[in-house]
Amino acid sequence: MATRGNFSGRVGFILTAAGSAVGLGNIWKFPYLAGQNGGAVFLFIYLFCIFLLCYPVMVGEISIGRHAGLDAYGSYNKLGGPRWGYLGLFGITVGVFILSFYNVVAGWAFGYFLHISFGDLLSETDYSSFFGFFVNDILDLTSAEGLANSNFIFSAVFMAMTALIVGRGIQKGIEAANKIMMPILYLILICIIVYALTLPNAMSGVRYYLIPDLGELKIQTLFEGLKQAFFSLSLGMGTLMTYGSYLKKNENIPSSVAVISIADTSVAFLAGLMVFPLVHFLQYKLQVTEVATAGPPLIFIVLPQIFHEMGPLLGKVIGGLFFLLVCFAALTSTISLLEVPVAYLVDQKKMRRRVVSWGLALLIFVLGLPVMASQGMVPALNKLAFYKGQDYLVFISDMCDISLTVGGCLMCIFVVRQWKLKNMNEELSLGNPGYNASFLKKYLNFTIQYVCPVLLGILSIMIIIDKFFGIERVF
Ligand code: PFF
Repeated sequence: MATRGNFSGRVGFILTAAGSAVGLGNIWKFPYLAGQNGGAVFLFIYLFCIFLLCYPVMVGEISIGRHAGLDAYGSYNKLGGPRWGYLGLFGITVGVFILSFYNVVAGWAFGYFLHISFGDLLSETDYSSFFGFFVNDILDLTSAEGLANSNFIFSAVFMAMTALIVGRGIQKGIEAANKIMMPILYLILICIIVYALTLPNAMSGVRYYLIPDLGELKIQTLFEGLKQAFFSLSLGMGTLMTYGSYLKKNENIPSSVAVISIADTSVAFLAGLMVFPLVHFLQYKLQVTEVATAGPPLIFIVLPQIFHEMGPLLGKVIGGLFFLLVCFAALTSTISLLEVPVAYLVDQKKMRRRVVSWGLALLIFVLGLPVMASQGMVPALNKLAFYKGQDYLVFISDMCDISLTVGGCLMCIFVVRQWKLKNMNEELSLGNPGYNASFLKKYLNFTIQYVCPVLLGILSIMIIIDKFFGIERVF
């Protein structure tokens, strides 16, 4: 066991787990979901999901991992037998698929970073066509321009950086990388917010973001909030279980989880506070009442246009910093995603970490090829007939979202029926002597036993119905 490695201490663990949580989900997804779903109403629902459902699930996952001291499969298998082991394998598979599409989007961000900082992206005039052209170019060897835009290369480099870090092990690779990237990430975020708030019309963006619009309250807002909270906190598939297995016994899990949740939520919140003043600045500049911020193009179409408006020098600095921020956020998450199957092969098959890191990275990169091709190059993947004509990227990301909430629900059932709350409580009282007499214990036991499995079960079923049939049509 001594060779598995562990985190050096509380700070290392918290920064690394927060690094997994803080990612594209916070910076790319959260602002536009909040914008589409009534601003502060969404924020409120999101916080509600974190407090009631995500916090207990995260505590449960980490305590299972630390108690078993193994990867996701090994932990379920050790504490619950081979049947529960399948739940671990399910989580590992979901992680592999998340990484397959996540790395492609991270590659886009990496490409934009290079193009803004070292190229002439800011001299473009039509960012919408540029994005269409960019995501469509998988590997064009016929011209220098084509090659410079090739997603294949950006994604491959991003995956290689991930493999390099994971291959170096827990303390020297994963923890060290997070300890560097996370503080820089916060610093960049704060600097851009401060700058954005000084721009003309910024306050209108803040109002749009923070004043609740109750008219937007729909059942889908709840679904979106829940899915986003699970994805954002990296729950439901064993990432935090795996990280928990490297945590020392004298660390206080509930308080670490509180810090991780706050760190993640604050980045999501701050990302909105960065993006909306920028968007409203653009509206002011263009003298329009609304620019389309719906959907993923927000950061790849609208924001570059804003950096363009800032002028060549300032645009390069702020735009370059912004995409560096996105790359750091993505990299700290891809590391955690790759660690899940790597830990499985290292623990269960006794393979060498460096070898499996590179081998799995290659495999997952190949799984990402259809994601790249789905952005226009292959029409059948661009409009999936069985999925309302949506593309493969949307499909795979939706399936993973659903799997996370289902995985979280099953984890709670595992704790209650198989592992038993008594054992979880014992694990949680290590490093937290007052735990057994605390209100927190009652809260966690009640939520893991009743609230989380029931609500996550019902909501998962409703989300599946909504995705495939549309909830309004069914009810
Ligand atoms: N939490 C990451 C984000 O918000 O971008 C995504 C993620 C990472 C999901 C790791 C799941 C996971 F296991």
